[in-house]
Amino acid sequence: MLSFLPSALLALTLPQFIFGQPKCGLVPPRDATASSKSTSSGTGTGTSSSSGDDDSIADVLANGWYPGWLADDNPPSNISWNKYNTLTFAFATTTSDVNTVALDSISQQALPQFVTEAQAHNVTAILSIGGWSGSMYFSNAMATAQNRSAFVKTVLGLVEKYDVNGIEFDWEYPAKQGIGCNTVSTSDSENFLSFLQELREDPTGAQLVLAAAVSIAPWVGSSGEPMTDVSAFAKVLDHISIMNYDIWGSWSPTVGPNAPLNDSCAPIQDGSAVSAVKAWTSAGFPADQVCLDLISLGLAAYGHSFDVSNSNAISSSNPKELKLYPAFNAGDQPHGDSQDGQAGTDECGNSTPVGGIFNFWGLVDGGFLTTAGTAANGIDYIFDNCSQTPFVYNPTSDVMVSFDDATSYAAKGKFINSMGLKGFSVWHILGDYDDILLDAVSAAMGIETVCTSSS
Ligand SMILES: *[C@@H]1O[C@H](CO)[C@@H](O)[C@H](O)[C@H]1NC(C)=O
Ligand SMILES: *[C@@H]1O[C@H](CO)[C@@H](O)[C@H](O)[C@H]1NC(C)=O
Ligand SMILES: *[C@@H]1O[C@H](CO)[C@@H](O)[C@H](O)[C@H]1NC(C)=O
Ligand SMILES: *[C@@H]1O[C@H](CO)[C@@H](O)[C@H](O)[C@H]1NC(C)=O
Ligand SMILES: *[C@@H]1O[C@H](CO)[C@@H](O)[C@H](O)[C@H]1NC(C)=O
Repeated sequence: MLSFLPSALLALTLPQFIFGQPKCGLVPPRDATASSKSTSSGTGTGTSSSSGDDDSIADVLANGWYPGWLADDNPPSNISWNKYNTLTFAFATTTSDVNTVALDSISQQALPQFVTEAQAHNVTAILSIGGWSGSMYFSNAMATAQNRSAFVKTVLGLVEKYDVNGIEFDWEYPAKQGIGCNTVSTSDSENFLSFLQELREDPTGAQLVLAAAVSIAPWVGSSGEPMTDVSAFAKVLDHISIMNYDIWGSWSPTVGPNAPLNDSCAPIQDGSAVSAVKAWTSAGFPADQVCLDLISLGLAAYGHSFDVSNSNAISSSNPKELKLYPAFNAGDQPHGDSQDGQAGTDECGNSTPVGGIFNFWGLVDGGFLTTAGTAANGIDYIFDNCSQTPFVYNPTSDVMVSFDDATSYAAKGKFINSMGLKGFSVWHILGDYDDILLDAVSAAMGIETVCTSSS
């Protein structure tokens, strides 16, 4: 119930809801969140299950994306439901008809199961619309007042059909080309705002969790540049998840961090959690609005691979030390794990190379990591102290991978708390191995399950 409310309303009504009924949820310790500073009432202090006044239940977001297309091998019943309080089902996709969004056949089967499991575990179930290959027709759907009204109806129809608690818009990207054949308009971002406002005005829409997955820079405005004031979006969205990954990859000039925590200390500033949070808050998307934080940090449960020669990869003065930002052979993209995309044709009909993506489990599977998530025998490892992310290297196969491990997840968890962010969103939750990453960020944030008593 709590999570269905827009955040401003929630801030006002929170105590009544909390005191009204017993409620179990994940919380960080009270003093770990910025929001706790502004709570005034309250006699208890801790995280004990009987304090009865823990109004921080709605504050922390422990979220991840569930990739619906992988449901056959990884059914919703196998999710670690008790370690999240929100899960986001990816993806429903836009179509050329504003009255229809699509779900692939596996997702159609899995989504009702996903929602049933979520309800059984008190986890907020969000359906994400869009994604890299599903954003083709957002621009059309938002383009006119008539289309926006029709799309509001389409979205509410989805909510009713699948009984989800919320909708995420993963539009990649408003006013900026993504995969290559999306419809795009310079008015996309302002149309998007008008659409969200209209959705919020609907009595059902007002009760939904509304979220957006966003890039490290704010939405592009009519000038073609990132908008300098996105504060109006903060009034209609419950949270944004910043997709702080794919910052470096096969398209980059050298090897670099997939998901850097920081880049102000790096040789090249290509973006990071630090700079992204700064960019969004500077544009008026508050990290802390009416007691509640609206920014969730997207975390990568995967890495990008590069072909790097021994002489480029390894320090000449210390054969045990890997170099940072080495040159790589772009013409020889290594294959990733067994779920990696093959070379082929994308949704636009353009040819695409092999992805080179290793899920975290894929690094275990591929012999880079032990089952404890540490570097395996014969694998070189370095932890970059600026990006606070690790790299592994197999000197025999010449494959280097920039990825995230328990250490980097813990660093990001501390950052989330120190900035007073709302929480985390893992792309994607099936990438983990034995919950090593999830447990690391949760422990660093002090997340645990508590129950409040009824009044
Ligand atoms: C879900 O919430 C209800 C009502 O607040 C509570 O009775 C129940 O124990 C919770 N279930 C779980 C699994 O936490
Ligand atoms: C469920 O998850 C565990 C690990 O979390 C995995 O070993 C097992 O294969 C999964 N089962 C199914 C049916 O996906
Ligand atoms: C409105 O939506 C329809 C699809 O239902 C689309 O054909 C049309 O181009 C859209 N209008 C604009 C201006 O994009
Ligand atoms: C990022 O790097 C800058 C420059 O070295 C440093 O001052 C800052 O504390 C770092 N931030 C984090 C969160 O590591
Ligand atoms: C990172 O910092 C640790 C601890 O200060 C240090 O041992 C390590 O050599 C540093 N790594 C790099 C790549 O600078």
